[in-house]
Amino acid sequence: MSNVVASQIDLHSAYGGVVPEIASRAHVEQIIVVIRQALAEATVSLDDIDALAVTATPGLIGALLVGVETVKGIVIASGKPFVPVHHVRGHLYSPMLEWADGRTARVDLTDAADDWDFPYLGLAVSGGHTSLARVDSPSEMKQLGETRDDAAGEAYDKVAKLLGLGYPGGPIVDGLAGEGDVKRFELPRPMLSAANLDFSFSGLKTAVRQLVEREEPDNDAEREVFIRDLCAAFQQASIDVLLGKAARAAKSEGLSRLAIVGGVACNRGLRAATGRLASDGIVAVAPEPALCGDNAAMIAGLGYHQYAAGERGELDLNPRASKRI
Ligand code: KG4
Ligand code: ZN
Repeated sequence: MSNVVASQIDLHSAYGGVVPEIASRAHVEQIIVVIRQALAEATVSLDDIDALAVTATPGLIGALLVGVETVKGIVIASGKPFVPVHHVRGHLYSPMLEWADGRTARVDLTDAADDWDFPYLGLAVSGGHTSLARVDSPSEMKQLGETRDDAAGEAYDKVAKLLGLGYPGGPIVDGLAGEGDVKRFELPRPMLSAANLDFSFSGLKTAVRQLVEREEPDNDAEREVFIRDLCAAFQQASIDVLLGKAARAAKSEGLSRLAIVGGVACNRGLRAATGRLASDGIVAVAPEPALCGDNAAMIAGLGYHQYAAGERGELDLNPRASKRI
């Protein structure tokens, strides 16, 4: 019914990445404002609400604490129940969301995605997570693989930082990659041929750094072309490993539906390449861009199913920085 997002990008951009302490403080300042605005935009009051859903894990512990303690406060004051939701499960559920007027909140990346339903393979790619999961229902999700070091979005942000491009790096690198020559530089495809469904992005980032140290031109015009070509090579390498593993997982799990979710699912190159998996018999979707990045609608959407299944959070709940899907 409403989906209000308070962006912290301006607060963190000077540092080229999220500063946990600043993030927590901004959450304290914004959370009541955001809750009020979400109720107002949905034209409901707290009395109309049956239950609250809150992200309890995984994430930056300070930020999680602000959400969990705020919800506990509302629960104590209102007597309403609440459900703790797993953040990455929320992303994985996001292709099932619908707006209150009945519009689906997803974009078809291949034809024939209009009968979209469970079960599907989820590729969750964001600044904090890179996982492949089998999604059978709102409650049955199984992790098949994850990153062993940096997340995909983190790699985008770090590459942008070392090229001096600004924060968050994902959209900037995405834009430049579209104009670059993807064939000029050869970058590694880490773990693509390994016999598992895990990822690694730190080696790719190091390969980019070494190329910059070795070959970055002094001349401004040449440097501009160098950066575009390097962004194109980095983007192609990351897409190749993400979709290479996703295609293999779909095959081994016997799944023909694939959803890309999380902030990096906004990536134009990734969306286009995912669409081309149609030739392998894959039906693919992504949430509309507003629901790819972190948002509360996906937490409410999945929380609804948990609530309907009888799940209830207790007031002694502690958030956890990490927890498997
Ligand atoms: O899901 P999200 O909003 O927050 C986390 O849970 O991390 O994802 C943010 C991440 C950032 O690393 C950002 O650079 C990346 O998503 N991102 C992109 C694009 N848009 C956002 N990465 C690649 N291409 C994009 N177009
Ligand atoms: Zn996220």
